[in-house]
Amino acid sequence: MQMMQSISVVVPTYKERDNLPELINRIQKVREDHHLNLELIIVDDNSKDGSEEYVQSLGLPWCRILVRRDEKGLSSAVLKGFTEAQGDIFVVMDADLSHPPEKIPELIEQIQTGADMVMGSRYVPGGKTDEEWGIFRWLNSKIATLLARPLTSVKDPMSGFFALPRRIYEKSAPLNPTGYKIALELLVKCPVEKVVEIPIYFSQRAKGKSKLSIKEQFKYLVHLRRLYSFKYENLTYFLHFSIIGFSGTIVNLLALTILVFFGIPVRLSVAISIIIAMLSNFVLNRRFTFPHAVESHWFPQLIGFMSACSIGAVINYITVLILLYIFPLLENIPQIPALVGILAGLIFNFILSKNFVFRKK
Ligand code: GDD
Ligand code: MN
Repeated sequence: MQMMQSISVVVPTYKERDNLPELINRIQKVREDHHLNLELIIVDDNSKDGSEEYVQSLGLPWCRILVRRDEKGLSSAVLKGFTEAQGDIFVVMDADLSHPPEKIPELIEQIQTGADMVMGSRYVPGGKTDEEWGIFRWLNSKIATLLARPLTSVKDPMSGFFALPRRIYEKSAPLNPTGYKIALELLVKCPVEKVVEIPIYFSQRAKGKSKLSIKEQFKYLVHLRRLYSFKYENLTYFLHFSIIGFSGTIVNLLALTILVFFGIPVRLSVAISIIIAMLSNFVLNRRFTFPHAVESHWFPQLIGFMSACSIGAVINYITVLILLYIFPLLENIPQIPALVGILAGLIFNFILSKNFVFRKK
């Protein structure tokens, strides 16, 4: 365990002037009682409520306020704080005293004994939310947490009170600071393995009112979608690819019906419909499954895609033959080996398309 690591506490604020005195006092006390090498960085989004003047008037060397005039948003404010921070360990908390500053030493201790991230949690034994929390806010918070469940096993990824070492933060994938769930973003995109949750009492905000609007709640859904595609990237691609593959079947049958209707010979119609379906799959996959593909020229991609599909068809056929060889009884229900064949062809097409035809540069 390393001693005396430096700590940067980042607090995003918007119109929190009335909460600043108590917040700073309590952090100062923690700082002195525990002999911490701690700086406090308040990132304010141009509140114009005297916050800036107040912090400056204190003249504390360990406490400063950054005022952003060009940008807004809780998450981006936190990230701004990180870029300015000097510490080895980052702590994030709200200004309204919902998060007890007295818990900071416990968070730090967990980081120093090997945790990659520490969460102040309302939903572990000993944690609690204020009784005054209405049923609506409670339910809302529960649902939001449940939706994030496949992304992280942390019980309370949303409390907004957390710590992580700089070394973990620096290894993060590119961060997208939409919305206000910055802890969730970090949990998914940083290489965190050991997460410790320590119980906190989440009290009602001391003064002023919440900035969390309905609009922010909607942004959370957009944020979730992004995180899911990040974490389950291949699965997301494959899902798109399969849906488009299925649509190709419909295109194929439709084209066939029309061609035959206009008197084109059946065998020729079948061949043309296959090509039309392939083209339609190509266009849709290029546009939706692998949107980055538009950066390269379409012609070599088209040739690649057609080849991949042809080999895929052969794989499909061989799979069926093998299955029939191993399980001769399947002759009676050829639909089953046919389905397995389609799946094998699909997976093969997908792997080739993703890694060769439409690969990222
Ligand atoms: N710089 C900046 N810019 N700060 C902001 C902004 C912004 O656009 N919006 C909010 N903040 C600051 C607030 O001033 C406060 O210090 C902190 O972010 C949390 O905002 P609150 O308005 O108190 O939000 P809340 O209490 O509804 O939400 C808190 O609890 C949720 C859990 O119930 C936050 O901690 C959330 O992250 C948490 O999910
Ligand atoms: Mn609050």
